[in-house]
Amino acid sequence: MKRKVTKAIFPVAGLGTRFLPATKSVPKEIMTLVDRPLIQYAIDEARAAGIKEFIFVTSRGKSALEDYFDDAPVLEQELRRKGKTDLLETLKATTMDSGQIAYVRQHKARGLGHAVWCARRLVHNEPFAVILPDDVIAADTPCLQQMVEAYAETGGNMVAAMEVPAEKTSSYGILDPVGDAMGPSVPIKGMVEKPEAGSAPSNLAVIGRYILSPQVMKHLNAVKSGAGGEIQLTDAIAREIEDGNGVHGFRFQGQRYDCGSKSGFLQATVAFGLARPDLRDELRDFLSDLSSVGYAAQ
Ligand code: UTP
Repeated sequence: MKRKVTKAIFPVAGLGTRFLPATKSVPKEIMTLVDRPLIQYAIDEARAAGIKEFIFVTSRGKSALEDYFDDAPVLEQELRRKGKTDLLETLKATTMDSGQIAYVRQHKARGLGHAVWCARRLVHNEPFAVILPDDVIAADTPCLQQMVEAYAETGGNMVAAMEVPAEKTSSYGILDPVGDAMGPSVPIKGMVEKPEAGSAPSNLAVIGRYILSPQVMKHLNAVKSGAGGEIQLTDAIAREIEDGNGVHGFRFQGQRYDCGSKSGFLQATVAFGLARPDLRDELRDFLSDLSSVGYAAQ
């Protein structure tokens, strides 16, 4: 069934342990890439794809995320008084209409599948997108928009996919494609969570963008803990395949940064910094003379 996708779930309830001690008090999704928190990139991408309802799955300690989307009247007043219209516009672009965002709580970090399931009552009987804010994707056409356009042709379920080196398959959900489909939309006959190198059915890895049928929520009801003792979203999507419902991998155009890892976050910071006209020259000069880096704080 092909339907318009207007709802997106943002699972932001993870513990973010790879960024401890920072994530002891700062939610990972509030960490800043240049001058915007990760969550803002995710929201902008969703808006570009036509999403109208934003569902956050949060947890204890994430209230900074909720505050971020509130109006900031005192700040706005001050910027207006000082004539800082550019900053005022930047700030206004971050506010959301009342009722556009809903928050549900994941009481225990039981995995991505469980986090998505926590939003089941808000999804009703509609297809929905899932965006993981720690996968930041730089693209001419935002990734979810590319997927929504492709989904209008395929219907069913769609997961963003990217080729990874064979030795990295154990870090991803890996797709088992039908035949050797070369186009952007690849029909899938199976998915395996984190297979060891050598046993992976392909090198097409699932990245944090999904368009899913409401049936997936029903499968999540039944899914038991999978790899790592967590409830895996890929297990529920795999059941869609077993039921004969279409699942496509989508090879998006763009560069993905794994901002859930320190190295990926640093790479994204450099790439997004170099893409900014106001920062580019100074940053490039710095990078071209790395002899100064030895004095950075340890
Ligand atoms: P990660 O696998 O990156 O886990 O989750 P994490 O807890 O955020 O980070 P580390 O591994 O401890 O450093 C991928 C996405 O799924 C969400 C996370 O918030 C992130 O967006 N998630 C994960 C949940 O919402 N709940 C969970 O129980 C697990």
